[in-house]
Amino acid sequence: MQRPTIGQLRYFLKDSIRKTINFGHTDQSRGVPAPPIQKPYETGVQLITLSDFDKITCLNEISLNQAIIKRRSQRSYKSESLSLEEISYLLYVTQGIRIKISDNVALRTVPSAGARHPFETYICATHIRDLQQGIYRYLPVEHKLFLHRSESNLKSRLTHAAFGQDFVGNAPAVFIWTTIPYRMEWRYGEAAHKAILLDAGHVCQNLYLAVQDISCGTCAVAAYDQEAMDQLLDLNTEEEFVIYLAPVGKI
Ligand SMILES: Cc1cc2nc3c(=O)[nH]c(=O)nc-3n(C[C@H](O)[C@H](O)[C@H](O)COP(=O)(O)O)c2cc1C
Repeated sequence: MQRPTIGQLRYFLKDSIRKTINFGHTDQSRGVPAPPIQKPYETGVQLITLSDFDKITCLNEISLNQAIIKRRSQRSYKSESLSLEEISYLLYVTQGIRIKISDNVALRTVPSAGARHPFETYICATHIRDLQQGIYRYLPVEHKLFLHRSESNLKSRLTHAAFGQDFVGNAPAVFIWTTIPYRMEWRYGEAAHKAILLDAGHVCQNLYLAVQDISCGTCAVAAYDQEAMDQLLDLNTEEEFVIYLAPVGKI
C-alpha cells in the first residue's frame, strides 16, 4: 500500500467527506439492523457486580472547578491498590449508561456522535482489591464486569505493548478502550472515523476529571504498539481494535 501524503492525511481532520457520501446507501438507510450497543459475551460467564453510581461512598466530592483547574497527567502512582467501588465509579463516568432508549440506543455519561458509542472498555487489573489479576471487560448495559482473560505477565506485557512506558505496566489498573468502528459506520459510512476519535477524547477527559475525586491520577496514552496491544486483548482486529488507554493509580 502506498503511504498517504501529509495532505491526504490532513483530509481526515476535515468533515469534507460528509458531502461526498450518499447517506441513502449507508447500512442504516438500507435497513440493515443496528449493531448491538455492547459486544455480545458468552452466556454462563461469571459476572462481577459493580457498585451503583448513586450508592458510591468513596468520593472526595471535590468541585468541578477544582477538578478542571487541577487536572494534569500523572505518570507515577503509589503501590496502593484500588477498590472495586472506585473502579465502578470510573467505569460509570466514562462509559456508563444513563438512559437505555431501546435495545439499539442508549445515552451514556459521555456524548457520542449520533449516540453510536463505538467503544468497549477493558480493565487490566494488577492491583484491584477483590479482583484477581487479569483483563476484564465492562458491560455497560448490566453495569457489570467479567474476566475476559487471565494473564500472568500482565505488567510486563502492558509495558512492552506501550512501547516501554513503564508507568502503564506499573499502574494498579489500566483502562483500555477499543473501538468497534462498524457501530459508527452503520450510520455515517466513511464519515465515521473522525467522529470515533472525537468521541474517545470525551471518554478520557471524564476519566481525567473523575480520578481526582478518588485521590488518583491518570495519563492519556495514544503511543502504543497497535499489534501487541490488540494481541494482549485477544481481539478480532477485523472488527475491533485498541484506540486509547489510560493507567490509573493513587497519587
Ligand atoms: C491524545 C493524547 C495522547 C497522549 N499520549 C501520551 C503517551 O503516549 N504517553 C505519555 O506519557 N503521555 C501522553 N499524553 C499526555 C500528554 O503528554 C499530556 O497531556 C501533555 O504533556 C500535557 O500535560 P498535562 O496533561 O499534564 O496538561 C497524551 C495525551 C493525549 C491527549
